[in-house]
Amino acid sequence: MKDTLNIGIIGLGEIGQAHCDAFSQVGRARLVAVSDVDQTRLAETTARTKTRGYVDYRELLAHRDLDAVVIATPEQAHAIPCVLAAEAGKHILVEKPIATTLRDAENIIEAADAARVKLMVGFTLRFFPQYIYAKQSVERGDLGQLVSVFARRTNLITRQEKMKGRTGVLNFLGVHDFDVMRWIIGSEPESIFCEQATSVPSAYPVENETFAIIRFQNGVIGCGHFGWFLPENHPAGFDFKLDLTGTNGVLHLDMIRQGVEINTHQTHYPYLAAPLIAEAKAFVDSVLDNTPVPATGIDGLRATKMVIAAQESLQSHLPVTL
Ligand SMILES: NC(=O)c1ccc[n+]([C@@H]2O[C@H](COP(=O)([O-])OP(=O)(O)OC[C@H]3O[C@@H](n4cnc5c(N)ncnc54)[C@H](O)[C@@H]3O)[C@@H](O)[C@H]2O)c1
Repeated sequence: MKDTLNIGIIGLGEIGQAHCDAFSQVGRARLVAVSDVDQTRLAETTARTKTRGYVDYRELLAHRDLDAVVIATPEQAHAIPCVLAAEAGKHILVEKPIATTLRDAENIIEAADAARVKLMVGFTLRFFPQYIYAKQSVERGDLGQLVSVFARRTNLITRQEKMKGRTGVLNFLGVHDFDVMRWIIGSEPESIFCEQATSVPSAYPVENETFAIIRFQNGVIGCGHFGWFLPENHPAGFDFKLDLTGTNGVLHLDMIRQGVEINTHQTHYPYLAAPLIAEAKAFVDSVLDNTPVPATGIDGLRATKMVIAAQESLQSHLPVTL
C-alpha cells in the first residue's frame, strides 16, 4: 500500500499554477512532473516547483512512478489527455467542466471505468467552507423546506479578453453553480430556460452574460446569473453569491465579504478561501484510501448536460427538458 501519491499536472495556466501550490501543501502528495505546450511557462514552473517538465504530456504519462494527473488544459481540450491518462493507468483530477460535449464527457468516464482509475471533477465550490455550511444547513432543515436557489457568479470585464472566445460564461462560470445547485438541492434538473443579456460589447461569438432558470425534479426553482462585466476597479474582482429560500427562512452567502476589508486609495476585499488545498487533499485521500471521490465523472456529465441545455435554450428562447 502506497503512502504518497506522485502527481503530474498537465496545463500550467491560471488554475494549473494554483494546483501546483495546492498539492505542495498536501502531506501525502508529491508533485513530480508538469507539462505545458508553452515552453517559457513550462521552464518557469519546473524551476519554481523543482519538478520534471514535458512539452508533450504523453511523455509525462509514460512515467511509471507517476500515480495521478491533474488535467488543467482549456475546457475543450480535456478529453484526449484524460483518456490517455486513464489508459496509462493514472488516476485523474480533471478541471471543470469535465468537457464541453456529452460525447467527450462520456468518453472520459468510460476510459476511467475501463482502466479502473479514480476520476474526480474539480468542482471547487464543494470545498469552500461557506458552500459546505449552506449544504449542511439545508440538510439540517434550518430553512424548513427548500423552495428556491439563486446563484450569482461574475468576473471582471477583462476575463473576456483572456478567454479570447474559447468558451462562454456558461462553461466557465455557470457549470460551478449548476453543480452546486444539484449538490445542495439533492435533486436532478428537469428543465432549463436561459436568456442572454448584452451588458458588455461581445468581442467573440460566445455568451457574456446569462440568466438561467432551472426547475428541479423535487420542485425547487434555481436561478443562475453568470457574466464577465465587472469594472476593472471592482473592489473584489469577482461577485459570487448564493441565496437559499425555504419555508422557514433564508440563507445568504456572499463571497465578497469574507470578514476582511482594506481601505487605502480604494476599498479591497482579499480572497481568503483555500478550497483548492481541500480539493487536492480529497483527491489524494480518495486514491490512497480507496474511498469514493467527492465529485464524480457522472457529476461532471450532469452539470455539462445542464450547460448544453442552457446553450440550446439561448438559441431557441424556449425551455429545454433534461
Ligand atoms: N476550479 C476553478 O476554480 C477554475 C478556475 C479557473 C479555471 N478553471 C478551469 O481550468 C481549466 C484551465 O483554465 P485556465 O484558466 O487555467 O486556462 P489557461 O489558459 O490559463 O491555462 C491553460 C494552459 O494549458 C496549456 N495547454 C494547452 N494545451 C495543452 C496541451 N496539449 N498540453 C499541455 N498544456 C496545454 C496552455 O498552454 C495553458 O498554459 C479550464 O477547464 C477552466 O474552466 C477552473
